[in-house]
Amino acid sequence: MPAKKNKTIFKCSSCSHEETKWLGRCPSCGSWNSFEEEQVTVKKKTTSAEKKKSAEAINLTEVDTLADYRFTSGITELDRVLGGGIMKGGAVLLGGEPGIGKSTLMLQLLSSSPVAKCLYISGEESPTQIRMRADRLKLKLNKIFLLHDAELEHIERVLNKNKPQLVIVDSVQTLFSQEVGLVPGTTSQIKYSCMELINWAKLQGTAIFFIGHVTKDGSLAGPKVIEHMVDTVINFEQAASGIRIIRASKNRFGSVDELGVFTMGGKGLLPVADPATFFIGQRREPIPSGSVISAVFEGSRTFMVEIQALTIPAKSGYSRVYSDRIDSARVSRISAVLEKHFGLSLSANDIYINVAGGMRLSEVGIELALAMAIYTSITGKKLSNNIVLVGELSLAGELRTVQHLDKRIKTAREMGFTVMVGPDIGTKSKVIHKNHDGLTFVPCRTIEDAVLALTQ
Ligand code: TYD
Ligand code: MG
Repeated sequence: MPAKKNKTIFKCSSCSHEETKWLGRCPSCGSWNSFEEEQVTVKKKTTSAEKKKSAEAINLTEVDTLADYRFTSGITELDRVLGGGIMKGGAVLLGGEPGIGKSTLMLQLLSSSPVAKCLYISGEESPTQIRMRADRLKLKLNKIFLLHDAELEHIERVLNKNKPQLVIVDSVQTLFSQEVGLVPGTTSQIKYSCMELINWAKLQGTAIFFIGHVTKDGSLAGPKVIEHMVDTVINFEQAASGIRIIRASKNRFGSVDELGVFTMGGKGLLPVADPATFFIGQRREPIPSGSVISAVFEGSRTFMVEIQALTIPAKSGYSRVYSDRIDSARVSRISAVLEKHFGLSLSANDIYINVAGGMRLSEVGIELALAMAIYTSITGKKLSNNIVLVGELSLAGELRTVQHLDKRIKTAREMGFTVMVGPDIGTKSKVIHKNHDGLTFVPCRTIEDAVLALTQ
């Protein structure tokens, strides 16, 4: 066995930059007081995967395929975000702010999945706390096994003995191994422990979920350092109070566009079965100026969303944009287009933008609706509540087409909207000329055309 040799290094907790001495400021990412001392054992440890693998290339046709490689989580909205269910042997990182509902969702998952043997590894909450939560949620308890430990070597012993098919690690920040120095919670502890657990899970065909806390600005290094190791990264977002959205930011087994929508209540996280109109609520006539409906396309579904704008004379002498659900730079760009084309004095106004229900919107198709929300707020004009706006805006004020226009029209029609103002995608287009069963599509080339069509 090679001799162990300990070496002290200092590692930036934000970007993992290494130095041989402590520095007040990281020369790589500029963070202050971010260096942590770490003991590195210079000993090559053979991982469990390496022990079993021989260094030989094989032809792709000889690789075994797994029958029934996916199973349901028992939670529809989670299955959707994972790409159609949980992969056997797959590793998933679930990130989110503390208190958003990560432990709750994972406990619900263990109870609702069809898997016979599950293990919940908790380095944070005590078994009593977890039992109380499970009781509150009225979960089936008999197949859930609990391990209150965070030391890798102990965890590995239990895994080898119990061989669960589904494992939750709550959370990665608590994991540590005797192999990697004495300080728990450092990035090397997290990386090493997760790598070992992922390798074990891959060999066994066990699905493993890691919970990772992320602070509001996403600055905590812990979960970030294992993103490249796992197959799927999903993140919890809080929309309005009581509404939670999960999205994948990486998925080796499916698309990253799908959203999962939940409500958080007394029974934990409940999937929203039909979220198409969930974010617009009750529509009243007349709707106030500054409020406009758009149809956004996320993953494979259309969501109707209400964008609200409020413009008031700038308090500080120069214009400011307050918008946390739509990128402020985008709001400024759309305001500039409106100012140029309609001579509105937007640069003398503060602009507040909100999305009802709190959904974060990054899709380009909302730009016409955003423009009309700002336009109607500053002019005091009102739109009828049966109108939906869709389209991307260029700097020159032209309306650009968006993907899946037909699906957006279909959902809007089903939800009772009767007019859609959108891009003119050419006279040959079926979408424009088709009879949409009571919905009229009004094609416009420019923002001027759209304003004319909407306010005449
Ligand atoms: P939790 O799953 O502990 O969050 P995380 O693991 O992400 O830190 O969720 C904690 C919050 O959820 C807490 O504020 C209480 C709330 N909650 C409910 O509203 N309903 C419930 O049924 C449960 C179990 C929790
Ligand atoms: Mg938790």
